[in-house]
Amino acid sequence: MKIAVPKETREHETRVAAVPETVKKFVNLGCEVVVETGAGAGASLPDGAYEAAGASIAGSFAECLKGADVVLKILRPTEGEAEAFEKGQKLFCVMAPFFDRPLTDALAARGVDVFAMEFMPRISRAQSMDVLSSQANLAGYKSVIEAANAYGRGMPQMMTAAGTVAPAKVFIMGVGVAGLQAIATARRLGAIVTATDVRPATEEQVASLGAKFIAVKNEEFLNAQTAGGYAKEMSDDYKKQQAELIAGHIAKQDIVITTALIPGRKAPILVTKEMVASMKPGSILVDLAVEQGGNVEGAEFDRNVVTDNGVTIMGFANVPGRLSADASSLFARNHLNFLSPFLKDGKLELDEEDDLVKGIRLTRDGAVVHPNLQNGG
Ligand code: NAI
Repeated sequence: MKIAVPKETREHETRVAAVPETVKKFVNLGCEVVVETGAGAGASLPDGAYEAAGASIAGSFAECLKGADVVLKILRPTEGEAEAFEKGQKLFCVMAPFFDRPLTDALAARGVDVFAMEFMPRISRAQSMDVLSSQANLAGYKSVIEAANAYGRGMPQMMTAAGTVAPAKVFIMGVGVAGLQAIATARRLGAIVTATDVRPATEEQVASLGAKFIAVKNEEFLNAQTAGGYAKEMSDDYKKQQAELIAGHIAKQDIVITTALIPGRKAPILVTKEMVASMKPGSILVDLAVEQGGNVEGAEFDRNVVTDNGVTIMGFANVPGRLSADASSLFARNHLNFLSPFLKDGKLELDEEDDLVKGIRLTRDGAVVHPNLQNGG
C-alpha cells in the first residue's frame, strides 16, 4: 500500500501530516511512503530525514499522489489540488465540510473516499487519534507564551533587592483542552490564574490545576454540557448575567486568553468593547477563537490590534502551526494511531462497522454518506 504525504499549501500552514518517526512505523507495517519535496520544511524536517526513515521523495503534488492508496494531509486540499486525486484514493485530513461543502462534493464526484479527522468521536479509545485535542493543547500552551512575551511585565512574583515585582493576573475563558493547558502553563510561569466556562465539569478541573473558578452557576449552567462533552449555546439571559459577572473581573486582569467554541456555530462574544476599554494599558488579550469569529470584540484574524487605551488584542492565525515541529509530530501520530489497527500485511482494511470509521467517513462510492452532511447540511 502506498501512502502519499504532500506539502501543505494553504496560507499560514507550517505543519506536515507525517514525520520521520511515523514514516518509519508505516514502513515497518509494510507500507510504501512517498513525501513531496519540502513537505517538512515548515516543521524543520528536511527531505533527507524522511529518506532516512524509508520514504521516497516526489517532486510535485501530482507526482506524490500518483498511484497512492492513502493520502495524509493536515488541511483539506485546494480546489486545484483536488484535481490531482484519483478514483479510489482515501484522503485523511481536517476537511471542514460545513465551511467548504463544494470541495467534499467535488472529491466525492472524483470517487475519492474522504475522511474528516476533526469528526473523530470523543471516546476514550479515540483519544490518541483526536487532532482537535492534540492541536488545541499546543495552542493553549503557545497562547500563554505569546501573551507573556508581549506583556511588558513579568509573570511570577519576584522579590529583588530593588523591590518586589507583582505576579501577573491571568484569566482563561473557556476551559476545554486549550484552556486547561493555558491554565497549567500560566501557573507554571507563576501567574495568579482564574478561569471560567459554562460546563460545570470544568469547575473541578480548574481547581485541580490551582486556579480559581468563576461562573454564573444557575440551572442553565448545570445543563450546559451536551452528551458529546461540548458546550451548548447559552441563552441571551445567561450571556447577560455572565457578562455582568466577568465585567468587573476583567478590568483587574493583566492577560486574558479566550478559547470558547460551540461546535458548528460562530464563537460566542465573551469580551465586549467596553470590557476591553476597562482594562489597564499594557494588558494583553489572546483570542484563540478568532478563526471561528472570535470571543473578543475588535479581534482581527492574523493581526495584533492595539486599542486606544493601550490594550493589545492578539488574533493569531494557526496557533498550533507556531509550534510546527510538535504540532506535526502529534498530528502525524494521530494519523498513525487511527490507521495502524486497520493495516493488515501492508494493506488498509477499514472496518466499516467501526464507530470511528463511521464517525469520520464523509464519502463513499462517489456519494457523500456522512449523516451530518445529508439534506445539504
Ligand atoms: P471546544 O474547543 O469546543 O470549546 C472550548 C471551551 O469553551 C469548552 O470548554 C466550552 O465549554 C467553552 N465554552 C463554550 N461556550 C462558552 C461560553 N459562552 N462561556 C465560557 N466558556 C464557553 O472544547 P474542547 O476543548 O474541544 O473540549 C470539549 C470537551 O471534550 C471537554 O470536556 C474535553 O475534556 C472533552 N474531550 C474529550 C475527548 C475524548 O474523550 N476523546 C478528547 C478531547 C476533549
